[in-house]
Amino acid sequence: MGGKVGIIGAGQVGAAAGFLLAQAQGVSDIVLVDLDHARARSEASDIAHAAAFGGAAQICAGDYADLAGADVVVITAGTSLKPGQTRLDLLAANIHVVSKVLESVLAVAPETALLFATNPVDVMPAVAVRRFAVPPGRAIGTGCALDSARFRDRLARHLGVSAGSVHANVLGEHGDSEVMHWSGAQIAGMPLTRFAEEIGQPLPPELQATIAQEVRTSAYRIKEGKGVSNFGIGGCIARLTRAIVNDEHVVFSVSTFMEELLGVRETCVSLPHVLGARGASRPLTPPLDEAEAAALRHSAGLLRDAIQAGLD
Ligand code: LAC
Repeated sequence: MGGKVGIIGAGQVGAAAGFLLAQAQGVSDIVLVDLDHARARSEASDIAHAAAFGGAAQICAGDYADLAGADVVVITAGTSLKPGQTRLDLLAANIHVVSKVLESVLAVAPETALLFATNPVDVMPAVAVRRFAVPPGRAIGTGCALDSARFRDRLARHLGVSAGSVHANVLGEHGDSEVMHWSGAQIAGMPLTRFAEEIGQPLPPELQATIAQEVRTSAYRIKEGKGVSNFGIGGCIARLTRAIVNDEHVVFSVSTFMEELLGVRETCVSLPHVLGARGASRPLTPPLDEAEAAALRHSAGLLRDAIQAGLD
């Protein structure tokens, strides 16, 4: 018997996540919830027709009451980035949306793991913890899991290796202050920069800065070209959801609310966590060099301020 997943928001992100989850092993039931019931029904039907070619899950449109017993509820509802905006610009509008959604979700599925994709995504676990007393490990932001995939993809293309062989994480805010964890990046059991030298594709500081900026601004460029970023985040949601439903104990850089990080109190940023049936482990702080620690402390401070502004 596979897991039951709810997806709140049948927009382009929720639909992409639902489509990928319907194809995934381990998920048996998906309930798509949206204020626009016609939209949710149409997306669910369309995804079900694709799943007929090899999917594993049953997907339907439903109401909050249909979320009872869900193992994971994914929250994608809210407004998305417009050109020229940062994710933190969406704070006031989306904290209101997410608070209303949480009221309805937790009334019928109080034990579910919550996976947030609504931006500013790193604020949303704090809403669940501070306003609804959800344990921090069950209020998870997709955070920098997507940025880490973008980072590994960009490094893999430079080095001519598979992204699966690149172990590199992005930490901090899912946004402009995110931190590439260069000092912790490894390939073939050696530090990334050493591997790059060994294969004749060096990563000098100026190229590292260029790659970091490309990763940090990926969403803005995608939105300029197609108006929305949905497949990257959809794939990220599907992967993280499967990790929880299948109790995989796999490590991802996701965000959870933490009482203190590097001297910053009550913040929520991405660090490596172990994901399994109980949600996320406590955050794991890897060794950081001085510049990385300072940048992560700055990022944590920005999110502390955003959480205070949004919740107080
Ligand atoms: C992005 C959105 C999900 O980074 O914030 O594509």
